Amino acid sequence: MKVFIKTYGCQMNAYDSRRMLDVLKPLGYEAADSPEGADMVILNTCHIREKAEEKVYSELGRVRQEKERQAQEGRRMLIAVAGCVAQAEGEEILARAPFVDMVFGPQSYHRLPELVTKALRARGSAVNLEFPSVSKFDFLPESVSGQGAAAFLAVQEGCDKFCTFCVVPYTRGGEYSRSVAEVEREARLLAEQGAVEIMLLGQNVNAYHGAGPDGEAWTLAALIRRLARIDGLRRIRYTTSHPRDMSDDLISAHAEEEKLMPYLHLPIQSGSDAVLERMNRKHNRAFYLDIIARLRRARPDMAFSGDFIVGFPRETEEDFAATLSIVREVGYATAYSFSYSPRPGTPAASEEHQVPPEVKDARLQRLQAEIGASALAFNQGCIGRVMEVLLDRDGRRPGQLLGRSPYMQSVHVEGAESYRGKIVSVKIANAYANSMAGKLIHFRQRAA
Ligand code: SAH
Ligand code: SF4
Ligand code: F3S
Repeated sequence: MKVFIKTYGCQMNAYDSRRMLDVLKPLGYEAADSPEGADMVILNTCHIREKAEEKVYSELGRVRQEKERQAQEGRRMLIAVAGCVAQAEGEEILARAPFVDMVFGPQSYHRLPELVTKALRARGSAVNLEFPSVSKFDFLPESVSGQGAAAFLAVQEGCDKFCTFCVVPYTRGGEYSRSVAEVEREARLLAEQGAVEIMLLGQNVNAYHGAGPDGEAWTLAALIRRLARIDGLRRIRYTTSHPRDMSDDLISAHAEEEKLMPYLHLPIQSGSDAVLERMNRKHNRAFYLDIIARLRRARPDMAFSGDFIVGFPRETEEDFAATLSIVREVGYATAYSFSYSPRPGTPAASEEHQVPPEVKDARLQRLQAEIGASALAFNQGCIGRVMEVLLDRDGRRPGQLLGRSPYMQSVHVEGAESYRGKIVSVKIANAYANSMAGKLIHFRQRAA
């Protein structure tokens, strides 16, 4: 049997989709790359910004046609809505799309076998939207499917921060950390299957406080030091971090732990203290800049990226100017920017003074130009340097591979097919806003 999983949203969702496959495998399901002919289709959804629901319903419309086509052949295709829209909309999905067979949130996909049986048997719909008191991680199969040279590993989930614009604390639930032993076991499995780089995932990954082998709560820095001892692993990264949880030991780990990459995604959202306050971010501009400065002292070549929201309720031109200026001050290697989108049920959504859409659009364009310039300058500064690049994907053209520099830049390399999945030395020749291109350096083999 074949299952097609379509994933929206963050890397945590991408991780969850892979784990859904691991859960379904014992039932005889294999991954399909399109809904055509699939026995099951799962939409793993994201609710973070506007039009998320609409996208899901229109995709459901398309999948429904395939379901009806199969029904004429006497087959029964199962359709599931998973992820954060499922958690937020719940039974509403069944009301609007009664042909959906299963609805479950990010905390209950380990129950998929049960839900599938129920849906098949009852011919009705199966719903599971609980936040179970025991973590799903305790029920997920220990075997993980290989992810290639660069793998994701969820170590922490959920959020207790309640930024006033954000749905994550409602859709993902409160903060939870997996134990060190569990994470280490999964990391070893991934390494055995060829992973040389691991990205540790969490909505608030640096708030990690999983139980260590000594029974104490370990920090993310301690976890990283532990994972760094795994032989095959050569690179460790983590995302997403909150400025409040950027502890001293994590900053020192960047100075001391060679396998920890010199790159940090550290969202600030706005450069204006007044806006940060209303966002309930629990940090101001100076606090954020101080972390950046301390990280640069610990690791001078540290590169940064961030997230920004423009047009948060009551954002003035002056507030926005402060956001533009922080982009210049930090000198981001890259950054993500979004237009504020009111999310039902969050405090900021009911603010009276929403910023008009045309103002938001104009600000977003100006911010993106500033970020683009910053990224281009950062990449241009790399021309002529030799960098270690992990070649993990196909490039745009045949004969080309795409890899990641230590600073998370995409690097195109020609004629490197035999190094797929390996870390190679590349001399950077060209730089653009979103990528770079370079030449493979062949070091002469040292005499034995
Ligand atoms: N946990 C991370 C980010 C989670 S969501 C953090 O604390 O920063 C990813 C990004 O989506 C956020 O950083 C924010 O920039 C954006 N985002 C979240 N809610 C949004 C909303 N309602 N409108 C626009 N962008 C939003
Ligand atoms: Fe959302 Fe804020 Fe939590 Fe990040 S820290 S997930 S933006 S509530
Ligand atoms: Fe989206 Fe849920 Fe991730 S809302 S960004 S899929 S945590």
